[in-house]
Amino acid sequence: MAQLELRGLAVQFGGVRAVDGLDLTLQDGELRCLIGPNGAGKSTTLDLICGKTAPTGGEILFDGRNITGLPEFRRARAGIGRKFQTPSVFRELTVIENLEIARSARPGVFSSLTVFRSRYPGRMQEVVELVELAEELHTRAGNLSHGQMQWLEIAMLLMQDARLILMDEPTAGMTIQETRKTGEIFASLRGSHTMIVVEHDMNFVRQIAGTVTVMDQGALLAEGSIQEVERDPAVRAAYLGDGGNGHA
Ligand SMILES: Nc1ncnc2c1ncn2[C@@H]1O[C@H](COP(=O)(O)OP(=O)(O)OP(=O)(O)O)[C@@H](O)[C@H]1O
Ligand SMILES: [Mg+2]
Repeated sequence: MAQLELRGLAVQFGGVRAVDGLDLTLQDGELRCLIGPNGAGKSTTLDLICGKTAPTGGEILFDGRNITGLPEFRRARAGIGRKFQTPSVFRELTVIENLEIARSARPGVFSSLTVFRSRYPGRMQEVVELVELAEELHTRAGNLSHGQMQWLEIAMLLMQDARLILMDEPTAGMTIQETRKTGEIFASLRGSHTMIVVEHDMNFVRQIAGTVTVMDQGALLAEGSIQEVERDPAVRAAYLGDGGNGHA
């Protein structure tokens, strides 16, 4: 069974059809890149999936369950995590304190911070090693580098047990080294987590590969491997080719 299914999803803002009958199917553990020109509806699609925006048409199924009408917090509880461009970390708190808060936000987990700290469960160790923040546990989040702060937010989503992680231009503002490291983090999450990554950096899309979905004017333009979509004449015309505005 597919983990996520969008069926004819649509939303209109005034006269603008931001998303216009979008169909999308994601398998469990898949890493999907979502690309397309500015204004194609990529960010709005993530807003619709996480519940920030209500659709004017279509359906969203998660684990086979229709979640179209569910409020955002209930989708988060169901395992849908959204990473925004400006990380929602607590800058005054340390890395470990941020992760403790994220974990205590998990549904059905009894969590007094002191109890948690003394147990220091294996899951947190695993997560901080994955995002390479094990050396920074007592650093205030506000003092982390730009890249580390993005990784902390991913770690927080993992501590909340997000199974579907939605990321909007996660490498924006990162150095080349930070971008590469981000690709490695995504590669190690593949299989255990489903991810949708909206990205303009085609080198990064090539690095993380997987299936690529191309949107244009709110709808699906093409879907396939990176090689397939890069060769697709319609994609070249709308986005990647000479006339397009892709950052290829
Ligand atoms: N809250 C809103 N109110 C009105 N129009 C909106 C709103 N949000 C998005 N739009 C419009 O919907 C369309 C899709 O926007 P969206 O931000 O989803 O595009 P995008 O693919 O993420 O583009 P970019 O690559 O520039 O981030 C655009 O025409 C945009 O102006
Ligand atoms: Mg966007």
